[in-house]
Amino acid sequence: MHLQFSILTLASLALASPSLVDVAAEADHVIKRALPDSPSGGYAPAEVKCPSTRPTLRSAQKVSPQEADWLKTRRGNTIQPMIDFLRGANIPGFDAQAYINNHRQNLTAVPNVGIALSGGGYRALMNGAGFVAAADSRVAGSTDKNGIGGLLQSATYLAGLSGGGWLVGSIYANNFSTVPQLRDGEKGSSLWQFSRSILKGPKESGISILNTASYWDDVHDAVDAKRDAGYNASITDYWGRTLSYQLINAKDGGPSYTFSSISRSPGFNDAKQPLPILVADGRFPGEKAVALNSTVYEFNPWELGTFDPNVFGFVPLQYLGSNFSNGAIPKDEKCMSGFDQFGYVMGTSSSLFNQIAMRNISSEKIPTFITNAVESLLEKIGKANDDIAVYSPNPFYKYNEKTNPNTNEKTLTLVDGGEDLQNMPLHPLIQPERAVDVIFAVDSSADTENSFPNGTALRATYDRTAQPISNGTRFPVVPDAETFINKGLNQRPTFFGCDPKNYTTGSKASNPLPPLIVYVPNMAYTTWSNVSTYTMSYEDAERNAIIQNGFNVATMGNGTTGEMSTNWRTCIGCAVLQRSMLKTNTTIPAACQKCFDTHCWDGKTDTRPITGGYQPKPVIGIQETSAAVGGRAGDFNKMLALMSAIAASGLVLVI
Ligand SMILES: *[C@@H]1O[C@H](CO)[C@@H](O)[C@H](O)[C@H]1NC(C)=O
Ligand SMILES: *[C@@H]1O[C@H](CO)[C@@H](O)[C@H](O)[C@H]1NC(C)=O
Ligand SMILES: *[C@@H]1O[C@H](CO)[C@@H](O)[C@H](O)[C@H]1NC(C)=O
Ligand SMILES: *[C@@H]1O[C@H](CO)[C@@H](O)[C@H](O)[C@H]1NC(C)=O
Ligand SMILES: *[C@@H]1O[C@H](CO)[C@@H](O)[C@H](O)[C@H]1NC(C)=O
Ligand SMILES: *[C@@H]1O[C@H](CO)[C@@H](O)[C@H](O)[C@H]1NC(C)=O
Ligand SMILES: *[C@@H]1O[C@H](CO)[C@@H](O)[C@H](O)[C@H]1NC(C)=O
Ligand SMILES: *[C@@H]1O[C@H](CO)[C@@H](O)[C@H](O)[C@H]1NC(C)=O
Ligand SMILES: *[C@@H]1O[C@H](CO)[C@@H](O)[C@H](O)[C@H]1NC(C)=O
Ligand SMILES: *[C@@H]1O[C@H](CO)[C@@H](O)[C@H](O)[C@H]1NC(C)=O
Ligand SMILES: *[C@@H]1O[C@H](CO)[C@@H](O)[C@H](O)[C@H]1NC(C)=O
Ligand SMILES: *[C@@H]1O[C@H](CO)[C@@H](O)[C@H](O)[C@H]1NC(C)=O
Repeated sequence: MHLQFSILTLASLALASPSLVDVAAEADHVIKRALPDSPSGGYAPAEVKCPSTRPTLRSAQKVSPQEADWLKTRRGNTIQPMIDFLRGANIPGFDAQAYINNHRQNLTAVPNVGIALSGGGYRALMNGAGFVAAADSRVAGSTDKNGIGGLLQSATYLAGLSGGGWLVGSIYANNFSTVPQLRDGEKGSSLWQFSRSILKGPKESGISILNTASYWDDVHDAVDAKRDAGYNASITDYWGRTLSYQLINAKDGGPSYTFSSISRSPGFNDAKQPLPILVADGRFPGEKAVALNSTVYEFNPWELGTFDPNVFGFVPLQYLGSNFSNGAIPKDEKCMSGFDQFGYVMGTSSSLFNQIAMRNISSEKIPTFITNAVESLLEKIGKANDDIAVYSPNPFYKYNEKTNPNTNEKTLTLVDGGEDLQNMPLHPLIQPERAVDVIFAVDSSADTENSFPNGTALRATYDRTAQPISNGTRFPVVPDAETFINKGLNQRPTFFGCDPKNYTTGSKASNPLPPLIVYVPNMAYTTWSNVSTYTMSYEDAERNAIIQNGFNVATMGNGTTGEMSTNWRTCIGCAVLQRSMLKTNTTIPAACQKCFDTHCWDGKTDTRPITGGYQPKPVIGIQETSAAVGGRAGDFNKMLALMSAIAASGLVLVI
């Protein structure tokens, strides 16, 4: 692949893009993608003309001016869907339409909704997809009795981490297509075709060996082009490239698509869709453990940065790859674009997977000459840096010198957002500046031996708010893992933070109420959705069954699973309204009080040890799919558990 080093303005490229034309003509299919606006036309970053006001970093004191601006439209755009959603919730004695209309002049009183999708590889993508499908009013059946359709349209933020980030990324790279559209893909497209692992590459007509060889050739060439442009590449470049073939519906997984192009895409930039955010952790060079007090970074369509008080800054995403120093690009330095390649950003948030996806290539049925080539390629990168994404030059170089732990580093190393155990992207959504009222926290973590969640991710975020790095950010009290299991808090959706007086100690009184958390744990309803994090391929039937299961998790089986589920849509409506009602001194309707009595964690603990392991029974009943589910968990399950334990103990992790 020969990449031309060309200086083109982003706008002209976007206009010249032929894909936009293709797409309009095939409106019912998965619509293609963000924008292929990398100035090189390929994977490599390239120089662009500096804008008249040269790009600078900004302090994290507030949300970005772009976000503030966008929010004005987005918050307004959520009102009608929210009215529709709340009317469907049918809260007795409560006129949702009148309530929202009474308060719409003052948006702080109108519910501000966030959705957070956890990590956990393909399991998290598929279970999260079931939730997103259920929340999306465009999906058939989502607004039936006890459906939660319309929640997505009412949301301001949609955050993803690692496997959850693949889902969020795939939705935005493909023009906010629905989950069924992404799942069903298009003839000839490799979108969501998980039956062929990313080590083999997509199925094309012709001889499979050649397909796999030329696939790796293309991956290799793309990463080489980045090196040729003067950048260091890391294992995450290969990982992100291969991942893209399944997640971005464009030729070769869209090497020229950038994450920042979302900000220029219709649908997002006119605030018809929620704001997508991906999360990654910062790691100090040479360090192996990712402690709970590591810096948490976010990617949003405008910026990369962190609200944490040490780095406390954001860089314009589009200009990543330029030599920023002390928050600016010096006069003699060029402006670069295209570093924020879409797959690279998704790969960064999920970089833990490098270890299995790339290192385990010899276990796949792939011709040796290919595995040899890939292995020798990986050898150069070095095993020690298996899970890192290299951001070099470090955009925070000499920025906030007194407190920034990376101030003198030329390289910023980012790792999988779940490595600090905060496996749900809650950090961006609990920032006081964003004033989110309720977070739907979809947890597909593999905490227990059989890959179900036990609240570890929630606890990590709760624990972190007690540390100085959290800068006074508040979070509801969350109990221990035994309590989650013994009281079934991980077996059905549970609300945390219902009591507006009980938060993290040491928080600043001036900070607003933290959001109510609607915790939605992965649970088996109609299939064993607890597939191993390290299973890297899924037959279509298995994929569909897990998405369906996720839909059932989100809707409590459409309210068919007993007393707790009968008024599920009403209770979700009440959860959306709870903080708003507190702010406006509105008497909580009796039906809502009943929901809170049923679904809120009551503050009581049950710390008895789990004897005989956690063995949940399916809520509805396992429906056979043509592919056998489960039974393929590799040793990596144990390894993950071990790594989590080591990370939690604060010891140095050496792999
Ligand atoms: C994206 O989706 C919207 C809504 O379905 C559609 O109107 C628009 O044409 C699509 N955009 C592209 C570039 O295909
Ligand atoms: C719930 O409703 C959805 C959409 O209609 C359907 O696909 C699903 O099978 C239903 N689940 C149950 C358990 O009935
Ligand atoms: C993180 O915590 C460890 C010990 O718990 C401490 O040694 C270290 O200084 C902390 N780092 C930051 C940036 O707060
Ligand atoms: C967070 O930290 C920054 C910088 O350390 C400080 O300026 C800011 O006021 C803090 N914000 C909150 C909400 O405490
Ligand atoms: C940034 O600076 C380094 C040396 O400090 C140089 O090698 C590199 O080419 C520069 N990058 C760009 C994009 O100008
Ligand atoms: C590699 O994959 C196989 C089967 O997919 C699995 O059993 C094994 O544990 C993995 N080993 C390593 C080192 O990744
Ligand atoms: C590449 O990495 C090396 C070693 O970390 C560093 O010295 C060099 O400046 C980096 N190059 C670029 C272009 O960032
Ligand atoms: C909960 O999950 C963590 C890993 O996240 C694990 O170390 C711990 O043993 C689990 N505890 C129980 C009771 O399941
Ligand atoms: C899923 O959970 C069930 C019930 O505990 C267990 O029998 C099965 O082995 C688990 N599957 C995997 C892949 O861990
Ligand atoms: C808007 O609503 C919030 C919450 O109810 C309240 O604190 C604030 O004073 C209101 N602002 C105006 C201008 O009415
Ligand atoms: C709600 O009540 C509190 C205290 O009773 C009062 O300070 C606040 O102004 C009231 N807010 C509204 C929006 O009425
Ligand atoms: C907050 O909740 C925890 C857990 O239930 C409890 O131990 C604590 O006493 C509560 N604090 C207050 C102020 O209610």
